[in-house]
Amino acid sequence: MAQRIDANEIKIIYCSCGKRLLVFWNYNINFSAIKCSQCLAKELSRSYQTCRFHFPIADMIFKISRFSGIKCASQTLYRLLSTQPIQSVIELHNNKYESDDYFNLTPKILTYLDQNLHLKKNHPLSLIRQRIVNFFYNEYANPKGTPLFSVFDRMSPIVTVKQNFDSLLIPENHPSRAKSDCYYINREYMLRAHCTAHQVELLRSGLDNFLIVGDVYRRDEIDATHFPVFHQVDAVRVIHNDKLFKNNPDLEIFEKNYSENHNSTSIGSSEKCIDQVKQPCHTVESVKLVEYEMKNALERLVITLFGKKLKFRWVDAYFPFTQPSWELEIYHNDKWFEILGCGIMRNEILSKAGIHNSIGYAFGLGLERLAMIIYDIPDIRLFWSQDSGFLNQFNEKDLNKTIKYKPISQFPQCSNDISFWLPSELSFETFSLNDVYDVVRNIGGDIVEQVTLLDKFTHPKTGKNSLTFRIIYRHMERTLTQKEVNEVHEAISNELIKKYNIKIR
Ligand code: PHE
Repeated sequence: MAQRIDANEIKIIYCSCGKRLLVFWNYNINFSAIKCSQCLAKELSRSYQTCRFHFPIADMIFKISRFSGIKCASQTLYRLLSTQPIQSVIELHNNKYESDDYFNLTPKILTYLDQNLHLKKNHPLSLIRQRIVNFFYNEYANPKGTPLFSVFDRMSPIVTVKQNFDSLLIPENHPSRAKSDCYYINREYMLRAHCTAHQVELLRSGLDNFLIVGDVYRRDEIDATHFPVFHQVDAVRVIHNDKLFKNNPDLEIFEKNYSENHNSTSIGSSEKCIDQVKQPCHTVESVKLVEYEMKNALERLVITLFGKKLKFRWVDAYFPFTQPSWELEIYHNDKWFEILGCGIMRNEILSKAGIHNSIGYAFGLGLERLAMIIYDIPDIRLFWSQDSGFLNQFNEKDLNKTIKYKPISQFPQCSNDISFWLPSELSFETFSLNDVYDVVRNIGGDIVEQVTLLDKFTHPKTGKNSLTFRIIYRHMERTLTQKEVNEVHEAISNELIKKYNIKIR
C-alpha cells in the first residue's frame, strides 16, 4: 500500500510492527518504506549476515535505500532521524565492538570485508598470489623439497591498533596513524592498513619464514588507480647466526659491543632511523649477506612475473620497522612504478618476539599494481567487478600464460562539479579532503570514477574558504543517464551539508 505525500509536511506514520513514527519531509517517498529502527536493524542483518551493525537511524535509511532500492530520504528527514539515540555497537565477524570518537567505518567499506578476491577462482589477484607463493615455495625448499615458507591468506583484517602500529615501532605521532588515512572501529581496533600488522604475532608463535596475503584498508582518493581496499603479500624470513655464517664461523650477526639488555646501541622506538647502511647492533657482513639474499630473491621474483626484459631499480626508502629499507621500482610504459617495500627487520622487533641471535628481512608488495601491469587492467575498480565478461578472461589453467585484458566495452563519462564554502571555523588545513572522498564513495559507490580538487578559493572580504571538486561518474557495465547521475550528485551534496555543515555555492 504505497502512499505518497508531498512537500514540507509533518506526518505520523506507522511502521509495519505498529510503532508510531513522527517524520517531516519535503520529498516524495514511498510511505511503506519507512521503518522503525528495530525493524531496520532486522532488515539489515538479513542482507548482511557477516557484518551486522547498528548505525544511527539516518544511516540505516541511507543504507536501506542503497541496498533495497528504497529512495533516499531528504536532508530534513535525515536531520530529524539523526536526533534519535545512537546505538553504537558494531558486530563484525561475530565479535561486538563499542564504537567511540575514532569510529569512521562506513557502510560501503564494510561491503568489501570477506570478499577475499585474492582467493577467488579465476580472479587476476588470485592468479598473481599463486604465482608469488609458488615462487617462494620453489626458491626456498629443504633438501626433500618441502617448502620453507608457511602461507597465511585468511587472517581477519580486523586488528588492534597495537598490531598495526605499536608492534612495528611506528611512532605515536606518525602520519600513517591519522584518522583521515585509516579505518578505525574505535581507539583499540581498526581495519589493517598493511599485512605487516600480523608480523609480530606470527614471529611470536615461533615461525621464521612466512607469507601473509590479504586485503588492506586505507582511506584514499578515488581514481582509476586508487581504491580504499587493496591486497598485499607480506613476507618475513629470519636466519639464525649458525645458518647465516655456517661457512664462516668466525663471523657474527651482532657487533661485539652489542648486548640485548644494554640499549645504548639500540634505536629508540620513536626515533627515525635514517642510517641507510645498517642498525647499530648489526655487523656490516651480516647485513650485506641478508640484503644480497633478499634483493636477489625479489629481483628473480619480478623477472618471473614480468619477464626477462624487465627494467628495474632499487631506491632507498624508510619504514619504521626495517633498517636499511628499499623500494623496488619497475619501468613500464615510460614510467617508474614502485611495486614493493622491503628491508632488514629492526632487531627490537625480533628480540621482543623472543627471537635471538638472528637477523631477518621483510617485504610487502601490492597485488593490484602488479596485476594491472601484468594483465593490462586499466582501472582498479574492475577487480571488484562481478561481470563474468571480466572473470572469464582469467580462466586459464596455466598460471604463467600471458593474459591481456580486453575491455568489455567503453561507456561515456558523466562529469558534475560541486563547490561549497567551508564553515567559518574550518581552514584548508583543518578540513580533510579524504572526508569528502569518503562521502563521495559511500554515496556514489563504484560509479564514481574520479574525484579531483579543481579549485581552492578564499573570499577576499569575508575570508571564507571554498573548495570545488569535479566528480566523474562512469559505470563499468552500462551507460548512466544524466538523471540518475544528478540524483546521486544531489545525495552527495546533501550528505556533505549534513556531515560537515558546508554551504553549497
Ligand atoms: N608495510 C609496508 C607498506 O604497506 C611494506 C613493507 C613491508 C615494507 C615489510 C618493509 C617491510 O607499504
